Amino acid sequence: MSRIAYVNGRYLPLRDATVNVEDRGYQFSDGVYEVCEVKAGRLVDERRHTERLARSLSELRIAAPMSPAALGVVLRETVRRNRVRWGIVYLQISRGVARRDHAFPAAGTAPSIVVTARNLNLDAAEKLAADGVAVITVPDNRWERVDIKSVSLLPNVLAKQAAREQGAREAWFVDGQGRVTEGSSSNAWIVTRDGKVVTRQVDHGILKGITRTVVLDAIAAQGLELEERAFTVDEAQSAREAFITSASQIVLPVVRIDGRPVGNGAPGLIATALRRDFHRYAELT
Ligand code: PDD
Repeated sequence: MSRIAYVNGRYLPLRDATVNVEDRGYQFSDGVYEVCEVKAGRLVDERRHTERLARSLSELRIAAPMSPAALGVVLRETVRRNRVRWGIVYLQISRGVARRDHAFPAAGTAPSIVVTARNLNLDAAEKLAADGVAVITVPDNRWERVDIKSVSLLPNVLAKQAAREQGAREAWFVDGQGRVTEGSSSNAWIVTRDGKVVTRQVDHGILKGITRTVVLDAIAAQGLELEERAFTVDEAQSAREAFITSASQIVLPVVRIDGRPVGNGAPGLIATALRRDFHRYAELT
């Protein structure tokens, strides 16, 4: 089956789905994106993803190419045409096509929109969660507005590649004070030896993950103790558990940080339970 992408109003086979070479997303990374989990062919937390998208667009002063309702139709249709049961839908909006000039193009330049969707391998994902993953740490060398979900991901790309080259699944960014900010494509969490769940507070220094928000609801509902604060690499390495969250990975236990085992080196109970129960707290539409 050939995959289908939505590009500026048309559904096209992937090989014909192209954007203009003067698209500002291509030339300047001048755009934003969202990744939404698809479960049983339905969108997970569409409302929250749509709200975050609107915020990213408004922070960068990019016009919304369509209403949230119309976008919902396009997301669903792309999922349907690609026969996605469990997987992801990806959407990207750039400031549009214009002769190359760093400053914004003329008012009225239409933003570009692309949507793709694909199945993920559920068995492989469950195996990864059952085994747990390794993370490495790298200096956080990103700009100061990573709360905006922009497609400017070069530091994240280099960090993830460093992780791969060291046999790890994810790289955690660490700020100048030795504190973990977040993963290259996930939020970072630990469970302390006395059972408190800790994740960094949201400000301009991390992305406010939708999965993070839903996991906070799960934590509150289950009566777990929570601390929203930064934690150091040392604290993480001596924690009882660690895990990461993102739309495509849900909750994924971390069992090694820079080569040192976390807890007993196996996935933790809280992370495993949060993964199992996650969709009870998410919105499926
Ligand atoms: N990444 N932090 C960063 C830097 C991310 O790129 C992501 C998501 C998250 C988690 O956000 P959410 O829970 O809303 O997925 C945190 C997506 C999945 C990606 O780039 O593929």
